[in-house]
Amino acid sequence: MKVIKVKDYNELSKVACEIFVKEIKKNPSLTLGLATGSTPIGLYQNLIKEYEKGNISFKDVKTFNLDEYCELERSHPQSYYTFMHENLFSKIDINLDNVHLPRTDGTDLEKLAKEYNELLLQNQIDLQVLGIGSNGHIGFNEPGTSFDQETFVVELTQKTREDNKRFFNSIDEVPTHAITMGIKNILAAKKIVLLASGKAKAEAIYKTVKEQPTPDVPASALQLHPDVTIIVDEEAGALL
Ligand code: PGA
Repeated sequence: MKVIKVKDYNELSKVACEIFVKEIKKNPSLTLGLATGSTPIGLYQNLIKEYEKGNISFKDVKTFNLDEYCELERSHPQSYYTFMHENLFSKIDINLDNVHLPRTDGTDLEKLAKEYNELLLQNQIDLQVLGIGSNGHIGFNEPGTSFDQETFVVELTQKTREDNKRFFNSIDEVPTHAITMGIKNILAAKKIVLLASGKAKAEAIYKTVKEQPTPDVPASALQLHPDVTIIVDEEAGALL
């Protein structure tokens, strides 16, 4: 794994954007794996600027998001579908037919997870961006998830629901389940960039980079992948 240490969130977002711009220029019809959460917002803002300057186009880009909450309609303000539209898709020239997030709006969630997995098997991701949970999760692959796990319906841990409650009125409103790409799907990407900012991520980053890979720290599976870049700011990289 290649680790890039930068000063702060601003620089992290710029360095991540440079990697994305380079790959999009190399292959304007590439397939991106995208993430939600606070961390990639700066990357998306920088990509929007590059698009506005005419440096890149998303016209032929395909995207697959890591995960989506169950129990929320796509139109819910906190759905990841809404997040992606507000933070990226509505501000670039992407064809919305090329945008994919797990559907979670049916009664048979297992079937919906299987359908998303099939789509991923048919579309290899060229460049995947990841955040990391304070418990080491990637996507919603919580500690204990097998590295062979494919897309599935996951029950969210209390820790993850606590971490995400800032976006809701109360913890009771945070969904209890999500559909997420599994670790196996994530490892199938050609190139992976993980971003981590802030001291809450320092311990998870240390375990991801320095300790033996273990399902207890889902992000440590990335050690098994040949092309991973981890970009950390000073606080997230403080223990390295
Ligand atoms: P965050 O979430 O970017 O909001 O910190 C990351 C994650 O939980 O994967």
